[in-house]
Order: sequence, then structure tokens, then C-alpha cells
Amino acid sequence: MSIKRIPISELRLGMYIHRLGGNWFQHPFWKGNFLLRSPRDLDTIRRCGIPDVWVVTGKTPDGGHAAAAPPFAEAGWMLSAVTESPALSPLSEPGETTPLAEEVERARRVCLVARDQIMGMFDEARMGRAIDASTTLPLVRQIADSVERHPQALLSVARLKTQDNYTYLHSVAVCALMLALSKEMGLDAESTQLAGLGGLMHDLGKAGIPLDVLNKPGKLSSAEFDLMKRHPARGAAMLQEGGAAPAVQAVAMHHHERIDGGGYPGRLGGDSIPLLARMGAVCDVYDAVTSIRPYKAPWSPAEAMRRMARWEGHFDRSIFESFVKAVGIYPIGSLVRLRSQRLAVVIDPGRDSLLTPVVRVFYSATDKRDLPPETLDLSLPQCDDGIQDLEDPDAWHFPDLNDYWMSGQ
Ligand SMILES: [Fe+2]
Repeated sequence: MSIKRIPISELRLGMYIHRLGGNWFQHPFWKGNFLLRSPRDLDTIRRCGIPDVWVVTGKTPDGGHAAAAPPFAEAGWMLSAVTESPALSPLSEPGETTPLAEEVERARRVCLVARDQIMGMFDEARMGRAIDASTTLPLVRQIADSVERHPQALLSVARLKTQDNYTYLHSVAVCALMLALSKEMGLDAESTQLAGLGGLMHDLGKAGIPLDVLNKPGKLSSAEFDLMKRHPARGAAMLQEGGAAPAVQAVAMHHHERIDGGGYPGRLGGDSIPLLARMGAVCDVYDAVTSIRPYKAPWSPAEAMRRMARWEGHFDRSIFESFVKAVGIYPIGSLVRLRSQRLAVVIDPGRDSLLTPVVRVFYSATDKRDLPPETLDLSLPQCDDGIQDLEDPDAWHFPDLNDYWMSGQ
């Protein structure tokens, strides 16, 4: 078996697709991994602007021929089914957790519905209409359900943003982070709901910023930055007008304050910054620095944890510690070097110890060659390997590391 990259013009029915090129929000297929047998699917792929595609030639890993359809090749993976019926319902009982790969698929659906709803809300706000934040409560519930089933799936999905959906998916990610953090901090149900809502609404004031400034693919001028700095007060005012709870308004108003008083707009410090806003500050920065942006390489999740931990005076220290416990020292997608000198991607940060995640080993750093992918639970007593250090993904030029946790393979 080998994998070959071909331009989309050469794609034909009967080919076994390993992965679709382009950003995965760009195309309507959840998994790239399937046998192309429907003319409709071929047509959809050709029309959605993907530049190229990786196809499997020869034999499949299980020894069968590439023409054999894998069990997940059915049309159920198509997003069109989601957009046609966007109503989401809880798919598991409260307290029940699910494997990552399963939850990633649900999380992607939640993200898409959430993105559209937030986008609609921003459009309303741009037209000067009052925003009733409570209409998003069912969405907060859906995000909370996903976080409950698997704490990291939705966070990992929402990290993969494109420039045009950045603001909306950032709101979804901050909501999910706020909910995970609330759980770690033991907040009651009402405060948790307000925290989630605050996360979802924290940047609503950006609806008042001209789109060319908001979506500018580069550094802002100082005049543009001054304009951008007005979004907290603007958002809080919009939320007040729409009757949102004061705690939700406070997240919008104060999520750019710093614990040492050096933030904006109020230059508040310490406990004078409302609790949910102090939480919002950590969640907001973490998602911003780990997100894929066109003008800067994102920090890996683990690198963000390390760097943020060293920032003096920025965050409430005890909230940050809870945040690390909630998200993990080695969050999903981190590239690590094991003591055996093999490289691996974290696919599950683990439930008990922050230092022993579940990883997917795929490369020998000593021999500089690919290894057959292998999943290793570093927390198991019989596992004699462990993390030696974090690796910088940019230094290695691997193909998309996100494939390892997204596909569950
Ligand atoms: Fe903000």
C-alpha cells in the first residue's frame, strides 16, 4: 500500500481516499478516509474548492485491496445531513463519557451549528438589534454535554479555525473552556451556566468593529488597536440592553483585565475583577494563542500551558492552576518525545495523572523514519516508556498531526 497526493482533477470513482486536502472546515466530509463510489460525492468534492487529495494505491493496511470499502465509508459521515437537520439532541446520558474519536464527530456537528448561530447573532448585533443572550442557552447545554462526555473533544475541534470563522469558533471554544474550568473549580450549576454563557458572549462587542479591522490578516495599527479595545464595553452594553445577567455582562466587560491591574478597560486588579471574568481571561488567551491564524503559527497546547504559566501578573494564579488541571499539561494534539526516542502525539490527556497521557507513537527520532502507528497508555503500570520532553511541531514538518486524534486511528 502507498499513499499518493493527486490534484482534484485526477480524482475518479473507485479510488480509496486517504485524506482530503485543504482545511477540513472547507469540505463537507467528516472523514477523509473512504472509498469514493458515489458520483454525487465526487461532484461535491470537485466543487468545494479542495486543491488536492491523498489516495491509497495498492493494498490496504489489513491486507485487503484498496477497492474494499472500510466500515466507515458510508454516507453517514457527510456534513450535509447535519446542515439539513441542525437540531441537536443529547446522545448520551449525563455523566457518561465516550471515546474521543466518537465525541470528535459529535463535537464537530455542535461546532458547526454553534458557529452559524453565533454568526447570526453577530449579524443581528451589527444591524443594531438587541441581543437576548438567553436564546443561546440550549447551545450552551449542547456544548456542556459534549464537554461532559469527553472533556477535550470539542476544544480540540474548535482549535482548527479558519480566518473567516475565527471569531465565532473562538466564542464556542471559550464557552467550552469556561464550562470545563467551572467543573474543575466545583462551581454550582447556576454559576457554571453563567460562565458558559459568558464565554459564548465575551466578544459580542466585536460585532461593532468594522469587518476589515476585525478580520485583518496582520498586525493592527495603533488606531485600529484602540478601536478594537472598545469591544469589551460595547459588548457589555449590548448584553445589558438585551437583559443578560450581570455576571455575563461582567465577562464581556472585564475579560481583558490583568490581575496586576495592567489590563483594560477598567485597569481593575486582583479580586476586584469579577470571578467569571478572571476565568474568562485565562480561557480567552489560551484559545487565542493555540488557534491556527493566517499570520502567526499557533503555539501547541502544551507550549501554551508552559508559556502562560511563566507570565507574571496576567492571570489569577489559582484559577490558572485549575485550568491546567481541567485541560491537561499535555493537551490533545501535543507532540512529545518519549524516553525511547520515539515521537508521539497526545490523543487523550488521561483522566488521573496529568503527566501520563495516552499517545499515538508514529516516528523514530533516532532512525529518522516512520513507525507503524501504535497507541500507548502511559498511565498503565506495565508501560515502561514516558514523556521525556515536548517537541516543537514546526521543527519536524510532519503532515497534519491533528489526523492522529481526529481519526482515532
Ligand atoms: Fe476579547
